[in-house]
Amino acid sequence: MASLGLVGIIFIQFLGLVLPNYLVLAQWNTDTGMEQAKGVATGTGGPDVKVFNVLDFGAKADGTTPNAINFIRAFKEACNHPGKAMMVIPEGEFVLGSALFSGPCSNVAPLMVSFSGTLLPQPNTKTAEDADWLTFQSIDGLIVSGKGTVNGQGEKTWKPECENCPRAPASLKFIKVNNTIISGINSVNAKGFHFMISVSDNIWFDGVNISAPADSPNTDGIHMSKSNKIKITNCRIGTGDDCVSIIHGSTNITVENVVCGPGHGISVGSLGHYDSEADVFGITVKNCTLRNTDNGARIKSYKNNNPSRAAGITFENLVMDHVKNPIIIDQEYGQVGSSESSKVSIEDVHFTNIKGTSVSKVAVDLLCSSANPCKGVTLTDIDLKFEGTEKPAVPFSSNCTNVKVVYAGIQNPPPCPP
Ligand SMILES: *[C@@H]1O[C@H](CO)[C@@H](O)[C@H](O)[C@H]1NC(C)=O
Ligand SMILES: *[C@@H]1O[C@H](CO)[C@@H](O)[C@H](O)[C@H]1NC(C)=O
Ligand SMILES: *[C@@H]1O[C@H](CO)[C@@H](O)[C@H](O)[C@H]1NC(C)=O
Ligand SMILES: *[C@@H]1O[C@H](CO)[C@@H](O)[C@H](O)[C@H]1NC(C)=O
Ligand SMILES: *[C@@H]1O[C@H](CO)[C@@H](O)[C@H](O)[C@H]1NC(C)=O
Repeated sequence: MASLGLVGIIFIQFLGLVLPNYLVLAQWNTDTGMEQAKGVATGTGGPDVKVFNVLDFGAKADGTTPNAINFIRAFKEACNHPGKAMMVIPEGEFVLGSALFSGPCSNVAPLMVSFSGTLLPQPNTKTAEDADWLTFQSIDGLIVSGKGTVNGQGEKTWKPECENCPRAPASLKFIKVNNTIISGINSVNAKGFHFMISVSDNIWFDGVNISAPADSPNTDGIHMSKSNKIKITNCRIGTGDDCVSIIHGSTNITVENVVCGPGHGISVGSLGHYDSEADVFGITVKNCTLRNTDNGARIKSYKNNNPSRAAGITFENLVMDHVKNPIIIDQEYGQVGSSESSKVSIEDVHFTNIKGTSVSKVAVDLLCSSANPCKGVTLTDIDLKFEGTEKPAVPFSSNCTNVKVVYAGIQNPPPCPP
């Protein structure tokens, strides 16, 4: 603490500013924090770290005893510790009911969570306020790292998709969480979404594994809204719905070196679902492989009256391996019978260097809104080939509606007629 205080004072003098010391201490930054996250995985949080092991708070790794209260106590003490703090979840099976890990925290950021064990849901528990199952909320500076597994045991409760069914609980939610690294960790068979992020700023997911069967309903891998600067790198996501879904109010999102499949692909949308949705912009999906998915690079919006704008979207260097709709914009998603056309405007969208195989004949399917034709859509170096069992009713082709595409480089399938 003393040395940090001194550094803080020097820093303040250097900037010529008068800042309270805690603001200087809050300088922790995810861009330089990945090495620290690797240490946290093995229980090494650096010098002067106080450890808060859930076992010391009465948690039992026996696969039956409910532990939510013990975990929350360990979290609270770590969060309120006046120095550096690391919550430790050791190996073993921990059963937890719904748990809200909520700040604001006064520890020296970041709050570290060293996660090795397996978390299992407690059967038939009521969902805590603002929590689905496990929720981190109102925290600035967090690392969750390790080889631990969150197993939602969704296979015990999944029902086929149905209209007006309540949404099944997400496994891990991050709400109002800033400056966070999620490193390693596994999510298996979530009941609903595996990870759900909202109202957050600067979260980096790296090396996370997500898995659930292809037919599991609404098990989105990483679902986000109203958040800025979310980065997803080096993850393997196989699930029953979108691998990544980026909905209203998401800005500055990067998805890189992700392998997706099975699943419904990497989706911007559904957009235009709710009133007054905030715009989506600055989305980059690059160096990803999509394997046996329903969609590859997808933008989808509902066919109704809710306006918003999705702009600055780039899909590049993608490999499609037996994907059904490798490149797709669908502005007639949901509300099939509706006579409305989507009021979401889609602009400045780039599909670049996308190669591999399609199992459908219409490998490029761009269906934009008649009320709001797409603008600034480019396709550059698209090299797909048909490898499927679909009968040849149509040639291997592109289909464009309410959009004028600017083409460059190789085009397989051939471009839409001008
Ligand atoms: C997170 O950052 C946002 C935007 O910078 C800020 O408004 C919010 O208060 C921060 N939340 C926390 C928990 O620090
Ligand atoms: C994720 O899966 C890969 C391949 O199966 C494995 O090598 C890696 O260790 C897994 N990551 C974690 C955090 O368990
Ligand atoms: C998105 O990123 C840009 C560039 O880093 C930044 O200027 C902008 O403020 C970010 N958007 C939001 C909503 O914070
Ligand atoms: C992206 O993929 C290309 C070719 O597959 C590879 O050469 C490059 O190193 C990758 N970039 C990153 C950041 O991994
Ligand atoms: C092209 O898209 C339009 C609009 O959805 C549809 O009516 C038409 O059947 C499609 N053509 C092919 C060959 O799929």
